[in-house]
Amino acid sequence: MTLPVLEVTDLSVDLRSTAGPVHAVRGLDLTVARGEVLGVVGESGSGKTVTMLALLGLLADGADVRGSVRLNGQELLGPPRSQLRLLRGAKVGMIFQDRRRLSIR
Ligand SMILES: Nc1ncnc2c1ncn2[C@@H]1O[C@H](COP(=O)(O)OP(=O)(O)OP(=O)(O)O)[C@@H](O)[C@H]1O
Ligand SMILES: [Mg+2]
Repeated sequence: MTLPVLEVTDLSVDLRSTAGPVHAVRGLDLTVARGEVLGVVGESGSGKTVTMLALLGLLADGADVRGSVRLNGQELLGPPRSQLRLLRGAKVGMIFQDRRRLSIR
């Protein structure tokens, strides 16, 4: 079998908030094969954005991210962030949801 482009196994993300810990993502599994397009849908607050930010290592330092994220077979969750920085933009990217706030005038 060809290696999946993206393989997420048992991803859980806990965030800190002033009201206490937020269990934003629990036990998520997903696989994206080469040439496949995956759409993720869910109600507001169900964890779509937090999931994608976790995959790219873009959550704040206080976030507790557990599980496994493999991009072309390479584990992203264990290595230091400096390694992930080399992959972002080159091998993986994100189009942010809040585009009005990010637009350059
Ligand atoms: N920075 C944060 N600090 C604390 N809790 C957060 C933070 N960001 C998101 N959350 C919480 O994490 C959960 C998942 O939020 P997320 O933004 O991932 O949802 P979403 O599925 O992307 O929603 P939407 O469809 O509205 O974009 C929600 O309960 C949200 O309130
Ligand atoms: Mg969102």
